[in-house]
Amino acid sequence: MNIKVSDALGLEKIYWDRVCNYLASNTKRYAELLLQLRERKAKVILEIGVYSGQRAKEMIEAAKIDHKAEDIWYLGFDLFEMFEPEILEKEFSKVPKTSQEIYDILAPTGVNVCLFKGYSQETLKEFVSKKHLYPSIDYIFIDGGHALDTIKSDWEYVKELMTYDTTVIFDDYYHGTHGENDKFGADHLVENLPSDEFVAECLNVTDSFAKDFGKLDISLVKVTINNQNNIKGIS
Ligand SMILES: C[S@@+](CC[C@H](N)C(=O)[O-])C[C@H]1O[C@@H](n2cnc3c(N)ncnc32)[C@H](O)[C@@H]1O
Repeated sequence: MNIKVSDALGLEKIYWDRVCNYLASNTKRYAELLLQLRERKAKVILEIGVYSGQRAKEMIEAAKIDHKAEDIWYLGFDLFEMFEPEILEKEFSKVPKTSQEIYDILAPTGVNVCLFKGYSQETLKEFVSKKHLYPSIDYIFIDGGHALDTIKSDWEYVKELMTYDTTVIFDDYYHGTHGENDKFGADHLVENLPSDEFVAECLNVTDSFAKDFGKLDISLVKVTINNQNNIKGIS
């Protein structure tokens, strides 16, 4: 590895400051996003739902502690300038920056940045058919459209991209059975994952928000392929 020690120490400090700042904020769960990325030592990162590019930049800078910039890939999927106002309600979403704005934020990091514009139902399908053109993906953050059908579709394509070494993080696991999670969120899908194929772990740090129906608790969920079957097959 050829990373300058002073650069790595600077990034390490920024990284731990970010983790601590998240833990002291009302979006504590994103500390887990950075901690899990380092645990995986991820260098190929795929994010569905780029939005402002903040988390993208933070994940890239965390990866740069362990890897040279030229070996790191960031693959970002969003509607970008194709976003239309009705998506706000339909996907319980936010208005993203344009692809040019995101590129201008991420390109200075020096890593390989590829942005895929359009509905993830279409762009991920296309990406899966061309996955041999890209390096194998270490870390996938699913945080695009929040409608149940969109999350289901994203997962169907993400499954095709996973290896035994891939960590998938879902945002928006809503605890309980009220309010937003009737129509939105990852909990329905995660709770029905076949345990002989996947290991799903609700990460420890949970955010709580006061809503008109009461308290909404949100966590990240980590999913990996269950390699127990593989081990059984070998023995
Ligand atoms: C919650 S924001 C993502 C936040 C970002 N991951 C972060 O942590 O800062 C959701 C994003 O998903 C995008 N989005 C919503 N529905 C989508 C769809 N069907 N296909 C692609 N992107 C979608 C929106 O444009 C928005 O930028």
